Amino acid sequence: MVTSLTLRSEHKWQFNMIISHLVALSNNSVIGVNNDLPWKLKKDLQHFSAYTQNKAIVMGRKTFESIGRPLPNRQNIVISSTLKSMEGIEVVRGLEEGIAAAADWNSKNKLEEEIVLIGGGYVFEESILLVNKLVLTRVDCDIEGDIFYPKINLEEWAKTSDESHAKDEDNQYDFRIQTYLKIKNSSD
Ligand SMILES: NC(=O)c1ccc[n+]([C@@H]2O[C@H](COP(=O)([O-])OP(=O)(O)OC[C@H]3O[C@@H](n4cnc5c(N)ncnc54)[C@H](OP(=O)(O)O)[C@@H]3O)[C@@H](O)[C@H]2O)c1
Repeated sequence: MVTSLTLRSEHKWQFNMIISHLVALSNNSVIGVNNDLPWKLKKDLQHFSAYTQNKAIVMGRKTFESIGRPLPNRQNIVISSTLKSMEGIEVVRGLEEGIAAAADWNSKNKLEEEIVLIGGGYVFEESILLVNKLVLTRVDCDIEGDIFYPKINLEEWAKTSDESHAKDEDNQYDFRIQTYLKIKNSSD
């Protein structure tokens, strides 16, 4: 069982592991529309696939349904109060249970010490105060959507990488992939 998880205050946790958000968002913070992604960005899908290989990924039920299948070479953990268990996914009943399941899988498999939260909006909102790494694809567009990434205070984060990608026939918009690590408070 997970022993490195301690409740600090409501919705604020301290973990001895990396817990990240992997997300693509527009300039106006849109991440989804009609339970789908609002853009075609082949290079970002390749980045998503490469980043998550051999890792535990935790997602909300709607994101799982939007992807439509368990992703291979990853531990697919789906948070839902309604979904029955099915082959290729581990169903959990809440965020805390999802993180604990991912940490258990990591420790059993001695693979990556990172848990990747892959969305959607509900899961990002619920976990924004506990993640310590952000892997953001900043898509250079302002678009309409129905699911948004929560506001982040970048003063609490240090940017550690930033790559730009130009639009082309397979990538609808210019985008940047940026990584941030949470700056520790003296009270942490
Ligand atoms: N741009 C990106 O990087 C990105 C990434 C992922 C998703 N998306 C987009 O985001 C949209 C989906 O996001 P969403 O906010 O609608 O849904 P979501 O976060 O994917 O899933 C929400 C569902 O997850 C379950 N859930 C989440 N937290 C829970 C908790 N604490 N306890 C119990 N159940 C919990 C519930 O399922 P039940 O109703 O079954 O209980 C809830 O209805 C889609 O448009 C998708 O394409 C975009």
